[in-house]
Amino acid sequence: MLFTEYNLKNLRLKNRMVMPPLTRARAGEGDVATEQMAKYYAQRAHAGLIITEGTQVSKQGQGYANTPGIYTEEQVKGWKKVTEAVHRKGGIIFAQLWHVGRVSHISLQENGESPVAPSAISAPGVKVFIKGENGVGEMVQHSHPRELTIDEIKSTINDFRKAARNAIDAGFDGIELHGANGYLIEQFLDSQTNRRSDQYGGSLENRLRFLSELVTTVAEEIGADKVGLRQAPLTTLMGARDDNPEETYIAAAKLVNKIGIAYIHIAEADWEDAPVMSDEFKRMYREAFSGTLIYAGKYNKDRAEEALEKGVADLIAFGRLFLANPDLPLRFQLGSSLNKVRQEYFFGGDEKGYTDYPFLEDD
Ligand SMILES: Cc1cc2nc3c(=O)[nH]c(=O)nc-3n(C[C@H](O)[C@H](O)[C@H](O)COP(=O)(O)O)c2cc1C
Repeated sequence: MLFTEYNLKNLRLKNRMVMPPLTRARAGEGDVATEQMAKYYAQRAHAGLIITEGTQVSKQGQGYANTPGIYTEEQVKGWKKVTEAVHRKGGIIFAQLWHVGRVSHISLQENGESPVAPSAISAPGVKVFIKGENGVGEMVQHSHPRELTIDEIKSTINDFRKAARNAIDAGFDGIELHGANGYLIEQFLDSQTNRRSDQYGGSLENRLRFLSELVTTVAEEIGADKVGLRQAPLTTLMGARDDNPEETYIAAAKLVNKIGIAYIHIAEADWEDAPVMSDEFKRMYREAFSGTLIYAGKYNKDRAEEALEKGVADLIAFGRLFLANPDLPLRFQLGSSLNKVRQEYFFGGDEKGYTDYPFLEDD
């Protein structure tokens, strides 16, 4: 089933294999997408759907050095090169829109200000990648955040709205809201990171309010059929946990179902940081959400086929495998061997470990 076509709202995907967001920290001056990034994504255009690396919607939303943005004219121009290169190869590409919330560092923020979050709570041990004094990158503890005011919450939602518009202007086929992995959207949702006492915190209904207003706003701007949402109900990345993930995330799925977005993209596990997601939980997602469900997290070809056959998933994302195998669909089809993932080149650097992974055939 992996190699069958799929209709995602009005987009015809040539297979059910998704390249999920993969931060590679190789943006140029001004956090602008480069020619080399265009080459990297175009190399992977055989995926049914590509979702870009996390792309900050504002300077405040940035948590790591050299990640691309989509809030300046130059950044939009940079992304145009990427979307054109992918479209020339017959690919379909969504931009992942990102605000890291508390997972940032004062050196990345305007005027050295504190990062922002629903509540002023730090996540001990959670590190971000910054440029050190001599220009060399280093991982450091994120800076203590301050609590967003209600006016700032509204203007953050507006940043996402503008970024979504910019993404469409840059030629993207749609956008994915990064609601996973302990960043801003998840910080509002999870009971342990959101301790607000106003209408954006406390009860589940209040913790869902940011997501509700955000998704509604972005859907009004570009159309619900061009909007996806990433969630990570069980991963503990960046210290974000919920006391009752099934209740919280199924309520969130029902909420975005009403708005009619194209898909939910569930990150089951990143590395070894999540318990196995039960079949029952996945069945609840199916019942709650009538759009497309994408699953990611340590999938190989066999596990992917099984999830599609069982009807749990509509599309499957392969992160590290796409990173290291630009022609992954062909390799799966032929049953060929796979390139080894070179983790030391994940973040930052040049074409090494980026655009130099070999193809089976000249491409
Ligand atoms: C180098 C790297 C960067 C990642 N960056 C992002 C990101 O920007 N946004 C996101 O939602 N997930 C990100 N992820 C998570 C992946 O999208 C995916 O969920 C994860 O790699 C698990 O899938 P896999 O086992 O197939 O690799 C990243 C993963 C890796 C390995």
